[in-house]
Amino acid sequence: MKLIKVESPQAGARLVAQRFAEISQATPASPVGLATGGTMVEIYKNLVQIDFRPTFEHAYALDEYLGLEPQHPNSYARYLDEHFVRPLGFEGALHVPGQGQYQNQSGYDLFEHSLASLGPLSVQLLGLGPNGHLAFNEPGSSLTSRTREVKLAPETIAANSQYFDPPESIPPLAVSQGLATIAKAQNLLVAVFGEHKREALQQAVSEQETKVPFAAIRNHPNLIVFTDIEL
Ligand code: GLP
Repeated sequence: MKLIKVESPQAGARLVAQRFAEISQATPASPVGLATGGTMVEIYKNLVQIDFRPTFEHAYALDEYLGLEPQHPNSYARYLDEHFVRPLGFEGALHVPGQGQYQNQSGYDLFEHSLASLGPLSVQLLGLGPNGHLAFNEPGSSLTSRTREVKLAPETIAANSQYFDPPESIPPLAVSQGLATIAKAQNLLVAVFGEHKREALQQAVSEQETKVPFAAIRNHPNLIVFTDIEL
């Protein structure tokens, strides 16, 4: 694991975007993995600023709230359409677990199958939840998990309900790529910005913490963590 300390979230977002573009351009036909959340907004803005042109035909999302229509203002399908697909003019297929043909357990299996047959992903973007979740793999998730339905932790509901109107309308369930699914990507770029994630980051990088979600990727050969937190 490589840990890169950045001066600010803005500087970090620039670096992550540059690295994402470099890796993707090195294997132009390979699909990529996209993340959501506040941290990623700046990263996608930077991709637009550096005039990144997607060459891949397939992009895979990490997760989705269960039961939200793709047009719902809080769905990750819509988030990715607004922050990635439209600003970058991506004309390929965006695969979102829990949406379209990827609903219900048979759909989650189909999502896994699609990823396995078109993958591996050249690069997967990742954030880290304040409670240490990766995608929606909450603490306690099996390190060998695959795409499945998950229950959001109370900390995740507290952190993400601010984006919902009213906040109580946040779904209690989600669909998430599993930790073993995520670990299959060839390169993992993790962006962790803000003091409120200090404890989650400390646990993520600590070899003693064998059960946190991050333990599933800690020994990945091409893992870079970008952070503004001084450990
Ligand atoms: C969300 C997403 C994660 C994301 C994380 C961090 O709930 N499911 O994939 O990495 O939480 O979000 P933020 O960047 O808003 O802190």
